[in-house]
Amino acid sequence: MSIRFGMIGGGVMGEAILSRLIKEKMYSPETVLVSEPSSDRREELAQRYQIEVTDSNRKVMQSASEVLLLAVKPQVLPRIEADWDGAKENIEHLPLLISILAGIPILRLEAGLDPLPVVRVMPNTNATVGASMSAIAPGSRLRTEQLTLAKTILSTIGQVVEVSESAMDAVTGVSGSGPAYVALLIESLADGGVSAGLPRSIAQQLAIQTVLGTATLLQEEQIHPAQLKDRVTSPGGTTIAGVAELEASGFRSAIIKAVQAAQARSAELGH
Ligand SMILES: NC(=O)c1ccc[n+]([C@@H]2O[C@H](COP(=O)([O-])OP(=O)(O)OC[C@H]3O[C@@H](n4cnc5c(N)ncnc54)[C@H](OP(=O)(O)O)[C@@H]3O)[C@@H](O)[C@H]2O)c1
Repeated sequence: MSIRFGMIGGGVMGEAILSRLIKEKMYSPETVLVSEPSSDRREELAQRYQIEVTDSNRKVMQSASEVLLLAVKPQVLPRIEADWDGAKENIEHLPLLISILAGIPILRLEAGLDPLPVVRVMPNTNATVGASMSAIAPGSRLRTEQLTLAKTILSTIGQVVEVSESAMDAVTGVSGSGPAYVALLIESLADGGVSAGLPRSIAQQLAIQTVLGTATLLQEEQIHPAQLKDRVTSPGGTTIAGVAELEASGFRSAIIKAVQAAQARSAELGH
């Protein structure tokens, strides 16, 4: 069977996307080819997903008819561009290039992997459990049906929003880096529980489920977070005492500044 989906770089994020595509039956294993330099990793992926693997990026570039997913670290891009220069003469198809490389602009991808149509994506680490928040920015050569295809692929690992490329640094500040902020929140909530006398495992379970449940409630009821906060703060009660302490400690402005700092750092790295 011919290869429809090619992936370059079989690391953490690549596997997260690949596993969902196969599980959701978007691509059957015999239509997938993955290139990866580590032989142990190749063997692992081949066994786990019953797919074909190779150490040749050129082979993937020349075989994939529909989609080429670029899932290497950004610093590896020059090597991928060199491989493309060697491969492009013998290419019969023009697959959609989906790049998840943080900080690499569409212009650079369109120049280095000319003439492929490009879409730039910023997923987050929650992709490994199918709960990613991915932002997608279309390149200038993308056809409408290719944008739809990219969104369908990304929807297998979670939610997708389309943004203009200029918003990518802001997206990085919120949803790209966001899992780390939420992990800090959970950790400190659990630490608070331990300092209040709870066993660590119980405190952690309480903290995780509280964050998960709150996010689910906000998403399902589609209410403003302030409404939820008002709902659980009774006059003179426990919750308003906690909220007052968070306000006095600058909790909200700390999070706002964290997003701005991550956005600024993302912009810095991209230039
Ligand atoms: N992880 C995240 O949460 C996250 C979020 C948003 C965006 N991203 C982006 O996703 C991309 C991949 O990140 P990751 O976390 O999945 O990294 P990773 O686990 O290190 O995966 C990269 C893979 O590429 C392989 N590789 C290295 N050189 C190669 C080459 N010349 N040709 C083909 N494959 C090569 C690596 O193999 P070796 O290990 O053998 O070198 C590794 O398996 C990055 O560009 C990152 O910016 C990641």
